Amino acid sequence: MLIDSYDRVVDYIRVSVTERCNFRCSYCMPEKPFSWVPKENLLSFEELFEFMKVAIDEGVKKIRITGGEPLLREDLDKFIKMIYDYAPEIDLAMTTNAFLLKGSAQRLKDAGLKRINVSIDTLKPEVAQKIAQKDVLKNVLAGVNEALAVGLKVKANMVPMRGVNSQEIVDVLEYCKERDITIRFIEYMENSHAKEDIQGLKSNELLAILNETYSFEDEGFDGSSPSHYYRMDDGYRFGIIEPYADDFCKQCNRIRLTAEGNLIPCLYFDEAMSIAESIKRGDIKGAAAVLKEVVRTKPEKNRWGGEEGESSSRAFYETGG
Ligand code: 5AD
Ligand code: SF4
Repeated sequence: MLIDSYDRVVDYIRVSVTERCNFRCSYCMPEKPFSWVPKENLLSFEELFEFMKVAIDEGVKKIRITGGEPLLREDLDKFIKMIYDYAPEIDLAMTTNAFLLKGSAQRLKDAGLKRINVSIDTLKPEVAQKIAQKDVLKNVLAGVNEALAVGLKVKANMVPMRGVNSQEIVDVLEYCKERDITIRFIEYMENSHAKEDIQGLKSNELLAILNETYSFEDEGFDGSSPSHYYRMDDGYRFGIIEPYADDFCKQCNRIRLTAEGNLIPCLYFDEAMSIAESIKRGDIKGAAAVLKEVVRTKPEKNRWGGEEGESSSRAFYETGG
């Protein structure tokens, strides 16, 4: 079992298979980075899988494939199947923008994928165009429908931003509720790669808006999910993710791997250790030692909500948020 210095069990790894993306979301990657990681520096699916085996053998129970946009990487279903065949009991999920899901959802499900998380920031085509800088809404919603049709469980993320999509909080919730999709509202996390003028809504503002339409009960955290959940009278649950809250990191159980093989103990900080060399050498013990060291050095807390103006310099498109 992997246990960090604050007695947190680390049993969840997020694997970014590419930092490339076909969207340019204002809160993540408003501009194309100066350069992409050269293709030859990416770990192959076989190499990534070698490390997944190490992680699973050390006690990881949940794997989420992220990006950038993971569906930009060819044959992703083959990577999913490798993991599934090795450990079918693993909670195998993916975060995707859903643009390419229509036409691939069935294949991913058949390979062993269980769940997806998708951004639904708006239901208005022109607002989606403004956020992603591309006319994306039709494909996104078609992708979501297909995922549901093939039996993938779906969660949605919305980042409410003042003057952009904050009028649509109830509409997006209703859209999700009708389809049995759990919606989680995420407080915008300041980072130096995002567009400068974004003003994210904080959880108290979100709750005030939702309270005008619904009544609900606070259920608190659910296991190690970063989301605080609320239950409405009819049983539907929605979540709020508050990275600025003091207790946000208390139940953190995750580490992240970039497509180049950098293992990252915390979303906020730039610190990382590479497993690429050991994996390429076939040095499984070496890779396991790096994994343990990264878990050991996992910081207690992020620094959002710390001193005035704290902002992360980590690019979320390298780690899939
Ligand atoms: N703040 C909050 N959420 C973000 N995401 C990406 N960047 C940010 C940010 N700066 C979330 C989006 C997306 C997921 C991959 O990460 O909601 O769905
Ligand atoms: Fe791409 Fe996701 Fe970042 Fe949007 S949030 S730019 S879809 S990686």
